[in-house]
Amino acid sequence: MTNAIKKAVFPVAGLGTRFLPATKAMPKEMLTIVDRPVIQLAVDEARAAGIDHFIFVTGRNKGVIEDHFDKQFELEATLRERGKTVELALLDSDLPGAGQTSFTRQQQPLGLGHAVWCARELVGDEPFALLLPDMLVHSRVSCLAQMMPAYRQHGGNVLAVEEVPHEQTHRYGIVGISGSEDNAFPITEMVEKPTPGTAPSNLMISGRYILQPEIFDLLRSQERGSGNEIQLTDAMIRLMESQRFTAVRFEGKTYDCGDKIGFLSANIAFALARDDIGAQVREAIKELAGNG
Ligand code: UTP
Repeated sequence: MTNAIKKAVFPVAGLGTRFLPATKAMPKEMLTIVDRPVIQLAVDEARAAGIDHFIFVTGRNKGVIEDHFDKQFELEATLRERGKTVELALLDSDLPGAGQTSFTRQQQPLGLGHAVWCARELVGDEPFALLLPDMLVHSRVSCLAQMMPAYRQHGGNVLAVEEVPHEQTHRYGIVGISGSEDNAFPITEMVEKPTPGTAPSNLMISGRYILQPEIFDLLRSQERGSGNEIQLTDAMIRLMESQRFTAVRFEGKTYDCGDKIGFLSANIAFALARDDIGAQVREAIKELAGNG
């Protein structure tokens, strides 16, 4: 029997330097994909996987994320007065329930591993999901939901993985796997940003994790690694000595929204897939490309 995953952690304390000046006063997680902030899409994905507690690890300038997941009485009153029922219903359905959100601060951006460690008291002694909001997944079924069957079957830790071109493996955490079990494979090796030519495969850790709480003890003592940051992958490598890690190849595509091209591509992909504006966007792109 595995414990159901009810809590998800969203680290949103990074500096977003690749998106300056947009991220000078605004967190990159509030950048929009058409009309939804990146962080809202990550929360939507988690809710679709049965998560009912949302833990945000924030930093300076991130108060707007807390506001985004709160009721806006003035705005709602005005919408009500104007009879904007569709917009009102949308705001209501996006909002987690009372008491379903928690916020903590990473006081210094020391790395993803450190951000996750900051959530230890809020997660407690239970397995949890971790979603990197800027690694946005476009898929028919929530990526985290696609990982749940492997978790129920194998327990332990589960990571979503996705193929990347071999020449790009040095930009990501990469796993080595053995055998084949449908879309889930035992992980045999893990390395953060391997030097070119040394990666064990071209499967990147795409930003969705199910982790056991023992990761927190390892993160407490984790030394700085790649980029002089406390790396989650380094702590997971140590956890692999005592616990199973399973890789899940999911249906869908990940866009790195912390990167300009990734962000623009995500906007186009999500816009094209929308019933309300998809056809118009296709026409607009054709026109722009034709005139290019
Ligand atoms: P990134 O490395 O993509 O974020 O971290 P970054 O550091 O903000 O980006 P650049 O490179 O400066 O443009 C992946 C995720 O981990 C969070 C980020 O907010 C992002 O969601 N993170 C990263 C933290 O919460 N704290 C950190 O110290 C580092």
